[in-house]
Amino acid sequence: MLYQRIFSALLIAVPTIAAPWYQPTSPQDTHHASPHPIRSAGVAATSVSTPVLPVQTPNTLPPLSDSLNLRVIALGVGTQNYTCSQTPNVSSSAPVSVGANATLYDVTELFTNSPQDIGNITETALLQNSGLGNQPIGHHFFTYVGSTLTPTFDLDGHSPSLFLSAVKENTETAPVLAYTGLSSEGAVPWLFLQSDTSGLSEGMSEVYRVETAGGAQPSTCADKDGDFQVPYSAEYWFYG
Ligand SMILES: *[C@@H]1O[C@H](CO)[C@@H](O)[C@H](O)[C@H]1NC(C)=O
Ligand SMILES: *[C@@H]1O[C@H](CO)[C@@H](O)[C@H](O)[C@H]1NC(C)=O
Ligand SMILES: *[C@@H]1O[C@H](CO)[C@@H](O)[C@H](O)[C@H]1NC(C)=O
Ligand SMILES: *[C@@H]1O[C@H](CO)[C@@H](O)[C@H](O)[C@H]1NC(C)=O
Repeated sequence: MLYQRIFSALLIAVPTIAAPWYQPTSPQDTHHASPHPIRSAGVAATSVSTPVLPVQTPNTLPPLSDSLNLRVIALGVGTQNYTCSQTPNVSSSAPVSVGANATLYDVTELFTNSPQDIGNITETALLQNSGLGNQPIGHHFFTYVGSTLTPTFDLDGHSPSLFLSAVKENTETAPVLAYTGLSSEGAVPWLFLQSDTSGLSEGMSEVYRVETAGGAQPSTCADKDGDFQVPYSAEYWFYG
């Protein structure tokens, strides 16, 4: 595999890859200049390259655990689910998150072979409600593990199949210039999740949700009754 453990070093150290990854660069907050500073600065147009996990500056998500390798980069396109069933039409109450449902498309080779073509892939996928021609590789959904509603990733299109029954460990607010979605509701946070202790996970143990587009909840339950969905897209970087 091309993917090596430099990811954990990158997560800690690198504000941008305009310079080689091992050279410190000036610690400016590039997010205010561009929503995708790392990608646009780091693209090599003609050669196979090692995918670099997008990180914000400053980065508040934890580094990857040692000894893990990148398994799959997936483009997720679907919905975040919320409910106001307990407080219908109440403007002083906030919707409650009750899960998500997304189709996952395999974009690993795109990041390896054609990073110049990636652009703002999640914004485009959300606007087109499509996987942009990439191969479906599985689904993201929530399911009960015991009494815990659990974020789950089933990459049944991968051989051997990969499965992650996860627990959310960290959240990081999306960059200010992230695409705010079809109704300008805002972009859901970037996340770091790890395998739970259910024993259900196979071949994967950690995932980052990055480059989110849309999906955030309305701030109140005004004019909201029952369950509703907000379309979103994100990149999921799976490690195992
Ligand atoms: C909430 O508001 C909608 C639209 O105004 C209305 O149809 C619905 O009956 C209301 N629900 C409740 C529980 O009051
Ligand atoms: C989320 O919404 C979708 C679409 O309505 C639905 O199929 C799914 O069951 C919902 N999932 C959860 C956990 O609410
Ligand atoms: C997810 O949404 C799709 C339609 O977008 C639907 O066919 C499917 O049943 C949903 N799955 C779950 C687990 O909610
Ligand atoms: C993202 O891509 C779309 C389609 O190419 C473009 O219209 C839009 O301006 C881009 N947005 C950002 C924030 O770069």
